[in-house]
Amino acid sequence: MPETLASAQTRLFKRLNASSAPYVDPLAVLRWESVAMDAWWLPPDALSLAGIAEFEALPLAVRRRLSHHEFAYLLEAGLWLESLFIQRLGGAIDREPDPERRRYYLNEIREEAGHSLMFLELLGRAGVRIPAAARPRSAAATALGRLLPFPGALFWTVTVIGEELGDRLNRMVPRGVEDVIVSAVVYHMARLHARDEARHIAHTRAVCAEAVRRLAPWQRLALSPVVAMAVAQYARRLCYPPRVLYLGAGLPPQTDWGALARANPARRAFVAQATAPTIEFLRSVGWRVGDER
Ligand SMILES: [Fe+2]
Ligand SMILES: [Fe+2]
Repeated sequence: MPETLASAQTRLFKRLNASSAPYVDPLAVLRWESVAMDAWWLPPDALSLAGIAEFEALPLAVRRRLSHHEFAYLLEAGLWLESLFIQRLGGAIDREPDPERRRYYLNEIREEAGHSLMFLELLGRAGVRIPAAARPRSAAATALGRLLPFPGALFWTVTVIGEELGDRLNRMVPRGVEDVIVSAVVYHMARLHARDEARHIAHTRAVCAEAVRRLAPWQRLALSPVVAMAVAQYARRLCYPPRVLYLGAGLPPQTDWGALARANPARRAFVAQATAPTIEFLRSVGWRVGDER
């Protein structure tokens, strides 16, 4: 007898819950006393100004400091999205009838809380502060995240977008580049986050695919431009920090670093590569996105 959707999903939630069960508390396992400021936090080729002559000519300490600030910028995006996600999952626990799914929501909330706590710990210990005006948040996206029906095709779709792009940037840290020493704490933090995120993304992709499949063809057609806009805007926001971030990192103020990053061919290629798997997935579930590529 073919497996029903409900039993396939229960099996998925059981599997995810089993691998979430040996919970690792990031605050307890990371070696916080070794936060290094004389190391890279993101490898140099993952920076928004990678390859720009004016930037590459700056002293090593300044270029490394930008890596601290760009990584912190990524953590700020994480704090923002994780807080929204915790709110939405938290609001759904009590009305969720399936015990496995309920358990999964609680596991994911615990893991996201652990991530946000480790982000705050690193930022606090390192003394790296991203000014409020430079944080990668938007009032419109916050409203969308709070108000989209849960569970629903659009909610899970924007969650896929939010999780996957951040995860791909985070995975740049532990991938290793010759001759580049990445801070040990940041390295372990990124690995720990990527491990949990793999589970979160497996869940989000599965529920997103199912929810989008249930939409009528006209709904998919009508909502596809919203999805395409969400991918483009989030990629822009996350991969091209505002001018004030470069100034906060101590780059010379007379240069418009934000404009240089936006015109940087290496960065554009990086962003296209980082968004490609998500666009492929969104297309595979029925959204019409990526035609403009
Ligand atoms: Fe997370
Ligand atoms: Fe997550």
